Amino acid sequence: MSSGTIEAGISSSLFLRTLKGEKTERPPLWLMRQAGRYLPEYRAVRAKAGSFLDLCYNPDLATEVTLQPIRRFGFDAAILFSDILVIPHALGQNVTFAEGEGPRLPPLMISPALNELKSELDLDLLAPIFQTIRQLKSELPSHIPLIGFCGAPWTVASYMIAGKGTPDQAPIRLLAYREPVFLKALIDRLVDSSISYLCQQAAAGVDTIQIFESFAGALPPHLFGQWSLEPLRRIVAGVRALYPDIPVIIFARGAGAQTAQLADGFIQAVGLDWMSDPIAMDRLLPANVPVQGNLDPLALIAGGEALERRCTAIREAFATRPHIFNLGHGILPETPIAHVERLVELIQGGN
Ligand code: CP3
Repeated sequence: MSSGTIEAGISSSLFLRTLKGEKTERPPLWLMRQAGRYLPEYRAVRAKAGSFLDLCYNPDLATEVTLQPIRRFGFDAAILFSDILVIPHALGQNVTFAEGEGPRLPPLMISPALNELKSELDLDLLAPIFQTIRQLKSELPSHIPLIGFCGAPWTVASYMIAGKGTPDQAPIRLLAYREPVFLKALIDRLVDSSISYLCQQAAAGVDTIQIFESFAGALPPHLFGQWSLEPLRRIVAGVRALYPDIPVIIFARGAGAQTAQLADGFIQAVGLDWMSDPIAMDRLLPANVPVQGNLDPLALIAGGEALERRCTAIREAFATRPHIFNLGHGILPETPIAHVERLVELIQGGN
């Protein structure tokens, strides 16, 4: 295949080619949380959907909000609109999203609480999400891949135990020291649930999977292997048993130097947070491993020269390895649309 050939369809996707280890003519671009409150069209759909979970479980509306940022900005990949906390919900834990406060769950602090959870994921409850994926696959332009996702067991468990997000998720860390047997049983259930959830997503048609380990930074390095890496390896092996070719990206926020442990070949790419120094990460990671990231979401809010300088610096740091341009965490609701447009121009426009 000559490099000048224009191919139709998914195989021409810059994003998928980068995940295969190719250094493409420019980095593909998408943004974590690209469907969200910074978009007026998202807020309009959100207002008529009822609760946030009602939106996640409504295939027509979830399809619509997934497509909104693709239509407006022409990003190089779409991400399924859903949430990492649908897994606790489908295990029978009550999950609500209080306006402006984030998720709330009844904290699961003691071992007997495990018996109140379902032993297996309620896939019927999640069926609308798989329907959303099928609708998206028929509505997305054929060259735009769809990313499916779940949360990593440690991160999801940290919400199940604390009942909400806190800066350092201390309740689960304390549990890891005090009651490792209970925590292991919970993590095991989440590993099995994540495998069946991701396999259903793959069956419905997602092209790639991203696993969000948003609270990697709440693990001291000596616990990272046991509570983050090992469960993640089991999930990837479980999905690969049925879908050997599906690319997997892991975004482990706050993992720091532990990120290297994710880059030993069991996944296709590592997502880097905004706290990582791109130059140091480029030195730390094996040369051929694709990276994704890692613009500070606040640099996008700031815009102007600060944004341009950071885009250049990040692209230069990863100039010789496969690189997917993204933020180093989710886009914030206060982000000006004009700054996202500028980012798209900077990365996709070739200047
Ligand atoms: O990226 C996308 O556009 C796809 C959709 C997506 C959402 N959440 C939608 C959402 C994805 C991939 C997530 C992942 C997610 N959810 C993570 C991992 C990524 C990260 O941010 O670290 C986590 C930790 C959650 C849990 C969660 N859900 C939190 C902490 C919150 C509150 C944050 C906030 O901004 O209010 C949510 C709610 C949520 N998930 C919103 C969206 C668009 C905002 C809720 C709303 O619109 O009312």
